[in-house]
Amino acid sequence: MSGSGDLLVRGVGELVTNASDAPGDLATLDDAAVAIEGGIVAWVGPEVELPSRYRDLPVLDVAGRAVVPGFVDAHTHAVFAGDRADEFARRLRGERYEDLLAAGGGILSTVAATREAGEDELATQAAARVERMVRSGTTTIEIKSGYGLDVETERRMLRVAHRLGDELPVEVVATFLGAHVVPAEYRDRRDAYVDLVCGPMMDACAPLAEFCDVFCDEAAFTVDEARRILEAGIAHGLRPRLHADQLARVGAARLAAEVGAMSADHLDHATGEDLAVLREAGTVAVLLPGVSLSMRTPFPDARRIWDAGVTVALATDCNPGTAWMERMSFMAALAAVEMGLTPEEALWSATRGGALALGRLDRGRLAAGDRGDLVVLDAPSYLHVPYRPDTDLAVEVVAAGRIVDR
Ligand code: NIG
Ligand code: FE
Repeated sequence: MSGSGDLLVRGVGELVTNASDAPGDLATLDDAAVAIEGGIVAWVGPEVELPSRYRDLPVLDVAGRAVVPGFVDAHTHAVFAGDRADEFARRLRGERYEDLLAAGGGILSTVAATREAGEDELATQAAARVERMVRSGTTTIEIKSGYGLDVETERRMLRVAHRLGDELPVEVVATFLGAHVVPAEYRDRRDAYVDLVCGPMMDACAPLAEFCDVFCDEAAFTVDEARRILEAGIAHGLRPRLHADQLARVGAARLAAEVGAMSADHLDHATGEDLAVLREAGTVAVLLPGVSLSMRTPFPDARRIWDAGVTVALATDCNPGTAWMERMSFMAALAAVEMGLTPEEALWSATRGGALALGRLDRGRLAAGDRGDLVVLDAPSYLHVPYRPDTDLAVEVVAAGRIVDR
């Protein structure tokens, strides 16, 4: 990374600011500049109006390119060991995700690989992908535990998540997901596993996390189990978020609203009533287009969710099973091309929407006081994000005012 957190980004042909705070309004400026001091945005406006005191800052001249706020990836499982390419191939040949999991594969095979890997090995594997994510424009990333499912490995995963944040130019938000699935050794004693998650595992992991998540679905935890776990999390100072109604409609979206979750994620099977409840609760819908692509399931109807008045965020869900996806610009492209969002709504959801889903109000937007996180696109307009979905358009990434080395 280069720089001290002071930077003048000038020559911006089109600047997406998201500064009006109306969902989907990118509040763009033409021929703009962004002054960043000490990692924080100090001034944004048309370059001709740049106050003279910012003229001595180190300059990044982007020569007429478009600039957007740094992407906020609000849902990932980016710390894991190994891969499941074989399982992916079996799904392409017709087998079902749920059946692979029930047979001890799926998430459980990543649990075996992750328990096996030492902390350094886990960090090395995760850093390689998180580095790629950062270079493609992600400046804030949520990372969940959930491939340990025992006290020691869950803690190790959270430690690795923090290490990534310390070592790479990205802010990591850590989420405790001890309730991802019931591990094999508790197969016939699921109540005992929920006791472990709510008790010793929560005690050990809560100090390393900000959020508590549960995979509340047919193949995982019931609504009653999830409620117990999220309430234990709240008692330990962890804000709830929830994998909700991905594989089937089990009532998880309603539970998310009931416990005041920051987000309800996936929502493939949520009904209009569920959406109304989420809107009332102010719970953000985190949609994960890469899962539908990789799982070959219908894309959730983001248009319907948006029109129901629910705040929408997009995320990669980066994980070895249902979506090894890394690039947020590709998620925005899928949301626009396949899920019914306009290009503006898709870009907003991948930036400001993600920030709201994580309760980070100082990002996903470029206004005075926000973090100096931005992406320079090798294009004249943000419209190129959905228009050229397979091109990594990020030519420069700035994290807290520092240029990320490429
Ligand atoms: O978000 N749904 C649960 N968890 C992940 C899948 C994890 C895996 O298959 O390894 C998801 O899709
Ligand atoms: Fe997930």
